[in-house]
Amino acid sequence: MRVLSVASEAVPLVKTGGLADVAGALPAALAPHGVAMTTLLPGYPAVLKAVGKGKPVHSWPDLLGHKARVLAASLGGQPLLVLDIPALFDRAGGPYGDANGQDWPDNWQRFAALGRAAADLAVGQGFDLLHAHDWQAGLAPAYLRFLHAGKAPPSVMTIHNMAFQGHYGREIFPKLGLPDAAWSITGVEYHGGVGYLKAGMEAASLITTVSPTYAREIRLPEFGMGLEGLIASRGRRVRGIVNGIDPAEWNPATDAHAPARYSAASLARRRTNKRALEAEFGLEPGDGPLFIIVSRLTWQKGMDVMVEVLDHLVGSGGRLALLGSGDAGLVAGFSAAAARHPGRIGLRIGYDEALSHRMQSGGDAILVPSRFEPCGLTQLYGLAYGCVPVVARTGGLADTVIDANLAALGAGAATGIVFTAVTPASLADAITRTIGLYRQPALWKGLQRAGMKADFSWAASGAVYAKIYQELVRPA
Ligand code: ADP
Ligand code: GLC
Repeated sequence: MRVLSVASEAVPLVKTGGLADVAGALPAALAPHGVAMTTLLPGYPAVLKAVGKGKPVHSWPDLLGHKARVLAASLGGQPLLVLDIPALFDRAGGPYGDANGQDWPDNWQRFAALGRAAADLAVGQGFDLLHAHDWQAGLAPAYLRFLHAGKAPPSVMTIHNMAFQGHYGREIFPKLGLPDAAWSITGVEYHGGVGYLKAGMEAASLITTVSPTYAREIRLPEFGMGLEGLIASRGRRVRGIVNGIDPAEWNPATDAHAPARYSAASLARRRTNKRALEAEFGLEPGDGPLFIIVSRLTWQKGMDVMVEVLDHLVGSGGRLALLGSGDAGLVAGFSAAAARHPGRIGLRIGYDEALSHRMQSGGDAILVPSRFEPCGLTQLYGLAYGCVPVVARTGGLADTVIDANLAALGAGAATGIVFTAVTPASLADAITRTIGLYRQPALWKGLQRAGMKADFSWAASGAVYAKIYQELVRPA
């Protein structure tokens, strides 16, 4: 079976978050199940550079006002298609905005072009199924439905984050090249404008999201963010499939970024990594745990609540190394706390993939106090690395971490600390609990080992995606 996967980012070429990890890992996860997955990415500078010349396989004289072509290449042995429209994608800055974080004003056009190209390619190149990720690919299923009726393969729309929906004004509709019939509540219309994610959710044969708990949560207004009704109306056509991690990238026994490699049987070797991390962040050694945070600094991630409990964390004997970027107000909050607690709180504001590996391999515990978390990957990396996750009970965090309550500890099943309600009081309490467990080395080692034993490879989820594709391509 041939599947076209459409995404706006994928490792190792372009990454702003977990979507890139997932889109980059899916082809190898699906290959053992007889699925040949081709990934379609926009031709950003880094992507064009990586594919070199590429082989032109398709072109349009006018794709939403631009000359466009598609280059075929391969990435890590997997087929890659690159949508080359220099005016839309070949520019300095990030995939969604400029260096100051300002969204590109023509994002509606950039990602409409991606959706249109994906639909045309899916039909023109005979793919059996189209798999669209997030709002940036949301118009692809809609173009399939409205422009290729009768010839369109089935499609899957995966929601990695309901908070980002791609909502634009009515004035763009005439420029999308869709028939008038698409302007309807069951088409692309959303609150008087055009909703890209909404359009994909309406048109796709099936909706998936990235954990079973998030699939339930988005039926509620608090998490559905306006689309809860649509989710509820699609009933069993909404599935939650937890993300895996790529063992070639995230394995403490082989990680080239870490000073010392280790396994569950050689946890003592983590000490080398911890010392190196302390030095790197200018932290004094101490007998309490070294907490880490690797995160976008946003409200979603509960980072405002985190700022409020930093004095408690330090006062209880903890230390913190943080790597992240995001809201200026939060950066200021963390910076002020670091200034109050020199040697106890160290910050790296920015994005650094290699450092994120060193942190997982040397930190004692990773804090993930998200208000909502469709899946979350950093807690999975923490589990694999013996960096015990401390997480809020929501979305994929709830599905992947087992709280160290007495019963779970007794059964040897606990893998982390899970707390309910993202408030300063409950987060502070979770930190206190974590430090208490850390001070009982046998229990702590048990937590680390149980987490490292848990299987979050793609094996299970890859099989579920393959089964879903099969059901859609060859309905029983
Ligand atoms: P989200 O996609 O919502 O940001 P995830 O936990 O799914 O959350 O994925 C985040 C990914 O981005 C992980 O691979 C994490 O290690 C990485 N990451 C986040 N912030 C940084 C950073 N500042 N530097 C390096 N990697 C980061
Ligand atoms: C989104 C979500 C995150 C998830 C990632 C990959 O960025 O915020 O929870 O892990 O997508 O699916």
